[in-house]
Amino acid sequence: MLKNKTIILGVCGGIAAYKAVELLRLLTRSGADVHVIMTRSAQQFIAPLTFQTLSSHPVHTALFNLIEEDEIGHISLADRADLFIIVPATANIIGKIAGGIADDMLTTTVMATKAPVLIAPAMNVNMYRNRLYQENEEKLRRFGYHFVAPVSGRLACGWEGEGKLAAPEAVFEAAVGAVTPQDLAGRVILVTAGPTREEIDPVRYISNHSSGKMGYALARAARRRGARVLLISGPTALPIPEGVEVINVISATEMLTAVMAHVDECDAVIKAAAVADYRPVTRCETKIKKQGDVISLEMTKNPDILALLGSRQRRPFLAGFAAETDNLAGNAEQKLKAKNLDMIIANDVSQEDAGFNVDTNRVLLFFKEGAGEQCELMSKAQLADVILDALGARLPTR
Ligand code: CTP
Repeated sequence: MLKNKTIILGVCGGIAAYKAVELLRLLTRSGADVHVIMTRSAQQFIAPLTFQTLSSHPVHTALFNLIEEDEIGHISLADRADLFIIVPATANIIGKIAGGIADDMLTTTVMATKAPVLIAPAMNVNMYRNRLYQENEEKLRRFGYHFVAPVSGRLACGWEGEGKLAAPEAVFEAAVGAVTPQDLAGRVILVTAGPTREEIDPVRYISNHSSGKMGYALARAARRRGARVLLISGPTALPIPEGVEVINVISATEMLTAVMAHVDECDAVIKAAAVADYRPVTRCETKIKKQGDVISLEMTKNPDILALLGSRQRRPFLAGFAAETDNLAGNAEQKLKAKNLDMIIANDVSQEDAGFNVDTNRVLLFFKEGAGEQCELMSKAQLADVILDALGARLPTR
């Protein structure tokens, strides 16, 4: 994701400066080479040594110390950057940048860089709402600067309202988005993920081993590539990807209702969910008591959501998954045709390193036009991008 990217992290003087430390950890963990610049007031809140230790580089604090230990002055640092992030950004720094003022290491480097600049503001709610501030932000947005909006909450100054620095995870996600080609911008992609649960009685249900990892990876990757993403999710233990709109469902019937309510807004539907094929004919209102040695449960077929989508006259691009334990290619191709899909991702769920509940996958892709593609073992995050590359190349232009 951010592997081998050079990122400048500009830290300003605000109580939220400590959250920049957490962001730095997220950035370095994902492989970025991070160089930190601190303003003079930032150093009142947190010691440069913290950033130096975690970034493994000296922290830049002084403008006129151009040849430092690693020979990086503000110009060469600005030139090498793939991304510039300012966290927390005060009203003062935003005003200075908007006014073209470059009077310290941070503002000169921002002025000199051609890299995308991502600004995460944090300030008092009245400062945030001040027209002067709002005009400065608007101006910078017009000039192509990216912003991660602050959130509402109790502010350090005692006021309630907007102005709280966005969570480090949200800034991280925006950072990834800022260096990711936005090839799916303007597209709406619906992803279903996870298992469905079919209730037998108030305490029991039938389900499957799906963890939702593949669907969540697809939702996250599509969002990073600029799409609006609707994630219709069965019960999972996964955190919701930043910026993704989630609709939680339990059963196949609920999933069907949610999918049908949104399908007309979508350019593509990716059905990664492991939908239960059958549900109990009746759900007992009270707990079923222990009876004889053997009991049987009468089951009825669930609607096949993907097949229903495929049978519609006007339908978005449809990508399905085929979870198989044998005859992978044959079964997948048969499902592609039978459900009238544009693409199917064939998944051998009997392998230990692919399919349910693991972080890796090995799949075959088949397309309506007859093409096929074998994907080697890779992480679900990487596979999500491979699937979106194939899907993106086939979406009709608008
Ligand atoms: N699917 C669906 N609704 C169902 C069953 C499956 O939308 N009731 C979708 C899944 O989300 C997946 C694709 O259909 O994208 C194939 O699911 P899979 O479980 O592999 O196949 P089934 O069609 O259920 O057939 P079988 O279980 O016999 O393999």
